[in-house]
Amino acid sequence: MSELEFAGKVAMVTGAASGIGFAIAELFAIRGASVGIIDIDVDKGRAASQAIAKSGGTALFIQADISDGESMAAAVSEVVKQFGRLDYAANNAGVAGQTNLVADMPEDEWRRVIDIMLTGVFLGMKYQLPHILKTKGSIVNTASGVGLVGFAGQSAYAASKHGVLGLTKSAALEYGSQGVNINAICPGTARTEMVDNALTQRPELEQDLRDMHPIGRIATPQEIAEAVLWLCSPKASFVSGVALPVDGGFVAQ
Ligand SMILES: NC(=O)c1ccc[n+]([C@@H]2O[C@H](COP(=O)([O-])OP(=O)(O)OC[C@H]3O[C@@H](n4cnc5c(N)ncnc54)[C@H](O)[C@@H]3O)[C@@H](O)[C@H]2O)c1
Repeated sequence: MSELEFAGKVAMVTGAASGIGFAIAELFAIRGASVGIIDIDVDKGRAASQAIAKSGGTALFIQADISDGESMAAAVSEVVKQFGRLDYAANNAGVAGQTNLVADMPEDEWRRVIDIMLTGVFLGMKYQLPHILKTKGSIVNTASGVGLVGFAGQSAYAASKHGVLGLTKSAALEYGSQGVNINAICPGTARTEMVDNALTQRPELEQDLRDMHPIGRIATPQEIAEAVLWLCSPKASFVSGVALPVDGGFVAQ
């Protein structure tokens, strides 16, 4: 398969201004797709699309809040208006939740995390699917290793990621027979801004994070992006409704 296996195709990636989302968008562009960079952060979103354009890719930044239906609908329409079609969506944007025991979790923090991390993925698929049904493309949602196991202190985050898996599997059953593959990835820890922020607050966490992964290190965002691109490629044509750990063995323990 040529490096340009996605030539002529169009992808949209949420949370593409940084971290795993940027790595997914960059890899789509390297392999020939035109990419909609969707993010709430205007400065970083513009910088991301400029970086991709500078290396010869085709990217368009569209500001959107994934937890807002109108905003997501407009972002999807804009991608289709600019590039003429939509083949792939990576619903990846996310935030770190506060660390709290359940009884101490403020109600508004619970709702904030669920709104962005779970409702955001639902809204993405709701507006992407009518277009992806036409191209018989693929959707990959970013869950987490913490979508498969619990995580003390991060109940809202873990619940939202478990929810993403239920949503992904149900949508895969609804649309698989119509030629649309819908899957989720469950990353282990990857070195992104989200993780860097946590390490700034608690530097001792770095060794703990390494120890949590049987491979003995954390991932690069590019290693996670490779799995997303594989799930979108024809090589994964019989893969539907999976929750694929990309986690250095974290959930195998
Ligand atoms: N980094 C990890 O170790 C790790 C592990 C497992 C799962 N994940 C998941 O991977 C995804 C990406 O994480 P990351 O580490 O790259 O984070 P990151 O903080 O580097 O990037 C997240 C991006 O999402 C954007 N975003 C946040 N809220 C948004 C909203 N409401 N609308 C639009 N964009 C919004 C941010 O502006 C940012 O650019 C998240 O869903 C996260 O939960 C990350």
